[in-house]
Amino acid sequence: MFDWEAAWLAALYGPSGFFARGEKPSSHFRTSPLVGPELASALLSLLARVDAALGFPQVLDFVDVGAGGGELAFAVRSLASGSLASRLRVTAVELGPPVLLPGVRWTTSIPSCVGLLVGHEWLDAIPCPVVTGPSSDPWITRWWPSLGPGEQAEVGAPRDAAWAAAVSSVRGAALAIDYGHLVSSRRFTLTGYRDGRQVPPVFDGSCDITAHVALDACAAAAGGEFVLVSQRDALGALGLTGSVAGSGWDWLESAARAGRIAELRDPRGLGAFGWLLHGRGVDVSDLLPALPSWCPIPASFSSA
Ligand SMILES: C[S@@+](CC[C@H](N)C(=O)[O-])C[C@H]1O[C@@H](n2cnc3c(N)ncnc32)[C@H](O)[C@@H]1O
Repeated sequence: MFDWEAAWLAALYGPSGFFARGEKPSSHFRTSPLVGPELASALLSLLARVDAALGFPQVLDFVDVGAGGGELAFAVRSLASGSLASRLRVTAVELGPPVLLPGVRWTTSIPSCVGLLVGHEWLDAIPCPVVTGPSSDPWITRWWPSLGPGEQAEVGAPRDAAWAAAVSSVRGAALAIDYGHLVSSRRFTLTGYRDGRQVPPVFDGSCDITAHVALDACAAAAGGEFVLVSQRDALGALGLTGSVAGSGWDWLESAARAGRIAELRDPRGLGAFGWLLHGRGVDVSDLLPALPSWCPIPASFSSA
């Protein structure tokens, strides 16, 4: 029988795997950190709230798991200011080759974190088994009960375990940002990406292979206090609304920024990503106001 998880692992992280050999997301697909500095600035606002809730620790961590080319980590380092900046330690966790960036340390395993840990499009890159229904797999029974005969499903258990381990390493807050589905809206989404295009998922290391994340299952596996909201709403709550003002050069700059914010908050694009935020020793309500629960983008609008 074909071992999907082993083939997927080898294709991404084996000796000549797609990410292991150093392919960077920026060459193949567009993620929120690549849009501009606005996501990093919103995460700095969140980090400042975590900092206050923790009582301003001597060393404040920002840990970026699955850091890719380090764009998010570097932007957070560069934009930080004041007392927070002098106490900030930025760590990029990445299985692929590190990128030398001032002020960012690289590691291959998740360190303990006092501050904010972010997994931006990390969980979708964790390989899973694939089963065909009907299936007696316990994860499928619990989290994909709608799986019909002959239908395929990704078993999210490895992602649940990875997220639970990551969250357990944190005092402060842990945030997964990803595309995904809920138990009420599961669908098989295994696909590939190469050179900016969606391609069939071929397990030969020539493309990224990804599938939507069962964010509700990840939340339950990590446990504790959490919220699951949309990127659109979370960015709005962190002050990223983007208005155009001023004149001349200022107007041009603010218009460009407003365009980037609109892309990050697009309800049929990046704005439909889920933000799964866990508080660890801090109240989530001190970090974000009450927001509507996340509703995944309907299949008819989704690109992946
Ligand atoms: C889809 S890319 C996202 C990159 C970046 N966060 C972004 O949004 O642009 C996923 C990244 O996670 C990395 N990755 C996957 N599993 C990992 C693990 N267990 N530890 C560290 N990095 C991992 C991959 O090598 C890849 O660079």
